[in-house]
Amino acid sequence: MDLEDLPGVGPATAEKLREAGFNSLLAVAVASPAELVVAAEIGEATAAKIINSARDAADIGGFETGDRILERRKEVGKLTTGSQSLDTLLGGGIETSAIVEFYGEFGSGKTQIAHQLAVNVQLPVDKGGLDGSVIIIDTENTFRPERINDMADSAGLDYETVLKNIHLARAYNSNHQILLVDKAEKLADELKETEKPARLLIIDSATAHFRSEYIGRGTLADRQQKINKHLHDALRFGDLNNAVIMITNQVQTRPDAFFGDPTRPIGGHVLGHTATFRLYLRKSKGEKRIARLVDSPNLPEAEAVFTISSAGIRD
Ligand SMILES: Nc1ncnc2c1ncn2[C@@H]1O[C@H](COP(=O)(O)OP(=O)(O)OP(=O)(O)O)[C@@H](O)[C@H]1O
Ligand SMILES: [Mg+2]
Repeated sequence: MDLEDLPGVGPATAEKLREAGFNSLLAVAVASPAELVVAAEIGEATAAKIINSARDAADIGGFETGDRILERRKEVGKLTTGSQSLDTLLGGGIETSAIVEFYGEFGSGKTQIAHQLAVNVQLPVDKGGLDGSVIIIDTENTFRPERINDMADSAGLDYETVLKNIHLARAYNSNHQILLVDKAEKLADELKETEKPARLLIIDSATAHFRSEYIGRGTLADRQQKINKHLHDALRFGDLNNAVIMITNQVQTRPDAFFGDPTRPIGGHVLGHTATFRLYLRKSKGEKRIARLVDSPNLPEAEAVFTISSAGIRD
């Protein structure tokens, strides 16, 4: 079934939808009416009708029994971080169809982990990979192909091939960053029928632009709303592609904290509610780093130690 088969969708509307990244029934089914109104220049009522038909056709959006959900959970893939202890902390690796957030101070290893995942996702499933390619939204210009070479070498992969399966775009501001998730959906659609479908989306850093552009208390609500939408777009990418969404986030100092750790992640609870897994990274001695699993739907709060070596992320 094509978009044109939905009631109310003619060739012109279908074209506009596709241009806006709504390439499949599933993509339309999980859209909100407001999104379609903008994308296809149609009325709200028509948008709602189209979405409902797409939901019926794509067989989503209703209630499901627990055993069906368990059945669907079996399709969830797990991506290795390169460190066994970190994988164990995450219940055997990073889950697909979910957002994992790494937050921590500068040099805590967020970008290094991003590089490692970009390599590992290309590994075969029996080696802890997802046999896929990666899309990276780089907001801080910290992607280094040289680092990928080191990591690919020590993973036994050909670095030239690995680099070819990394699709990167720099985001120049938060608006551009939001737009790039749409572009990523289109690219993922093109990659779907290839040998290396997109199975990982990295946004490093997810919050830096927002933090520098929205200054002052009066802008906070607007900022949080934009971040919220951005993350939901990213989560949709994860669902549509059965992909891991890896985002990074800095911390800010909390001047009112008297006890415990005086830092907290930027974006606060908005990120907390959307990210399925949150890991707080701290520096330890030398190459050592400590990761704390802060929030997870089914795993206990716990810590793991890993290292950043020239070979990459290891135990
Ligand atoms: N080739 C390498 N070999 C060993 N360790 C490395 C190598 N490259 C980077 N590192 C380690 O990684 C650290 C940088 O970590 P990373 O860039 O991931 O931090 P980050 O959490 O992304 O910080 P920021 O908030 O500034 O983006 C360096 O300080 C160094 O300890
Ligand atoms: Mg970084």
